[in-house]
Amino acid sequence: MPKRRQGGSFQGSETLKDRIPAGHLVGMETVCDQDQEACLAREEVEEQEEDSEVEEEEEEEELFAEELETKEETKPLEKAAAWEPSVYSVLGKEQHYFVGHNINIYESLDSYGAIVWPAAVALCHFLDNNRKQINLQDKWVLEIGAGTGLLSIVACLLGAWVTATDIPDVLGNLRSNVYRNTRGHCRYTPQVAPLCWEQDLEQTYPRSTYHYDYVLAADVVYHHNFLDELLLTMRHFCQPGTTLIWANKVRFESDLRFTENFKRTFNTTLLTELPEDEVKIFMATSRE
Ligand SMILES: C[S@@+](CC[C@H](N)C(=O)[O-])C[C@H]1O[C@@H](n2cnc3c(N)ncnc32)[C@H](O)[C@@H]1O
Repeated sequence: MPKRRQGGSFQGSETLKDRIPAGHLVGMETVCDQDQEACLAREEVEEQEEDSEVEEEEEEEELFAEELETKEETKPLEKAAAWEPSVYSVLGKEQHYFVGHNINIYESLDSYGAIVWPAAVALCHFLDNNRKQINLQDKWVLEIGAGTGLLSIVACLLGAWVTATDIPDVLGNLRSNVYRNTRGHCRYTPQVAPLCWEQDLEQTYPRSTYHYDYVLAADVVYHHNFLDELLLTMRHFCQPGTTLIWANKVRFESDLRFTENFKRTFNTTLLTELPEDEVKIFMATSRE
């Protein structure tokens, strides 16, 4: 079991692996953790494999596009409560460039979580350009409301051990984007997991076990009925030693109310503001 830490960094001989619950070690790469020679040999093999991986990825992309087309024809329109509008069609691929990598994101229109939102792009820019201020290397990072996964992918490319979460409906697309864009490029294999705000949190993510260095959230505040649950979820994960980074485009009156509650709940700092995009990025820590 991981040791619970009040601070955000490792101490003594503790490694990131020590902090990860046993069940989550499956599939995790501990590159350069202990056996460096084996790591180097593996890197060589990986380089050789990269060419064939490009071909594999292209095939995978075609398969994924076909899968979406099939779904579009056969899947009944499933509407989770409050996920309107729900138009089931494929939008296509969006390309981004962060941390020296091209990132291909598949989007669709079947839920809010199936497209890239402006605050995610703004936060990716911020993290990429402010690596000293926010050093994600070897940090334990949780993203809530991850949507298509762009932000989690960037955090992963920046060296973090990332868990990307969202409601079950969007996990297929999220998983596919996250794995396709991080495979072979990251220190740690990211995890993708369901997390509905304020649902069974203490059972699924007990605070005594899950202590993240960073919690990321982009454009999770808009016109929906789960704002109280969202704030409670942020509180659940933002423990002493955790830094919560929340980026949002301000759109509605309710967004301003949430921001006020957010400021009352945490110690907050406005990291940056992008007036042209109406996006603000806040950093928060626990008041406990
Ligand atoms: C506007 S989208 C933003 C997606 C992504 N963070 C981005 O910026 O591109 C909001 C995200 O929050 C998720 N979400 C909304 N309500 C939720 C809830 N009650 N529990 C968990 N996730 C939720 C949605 O599925 C969606 O992925």
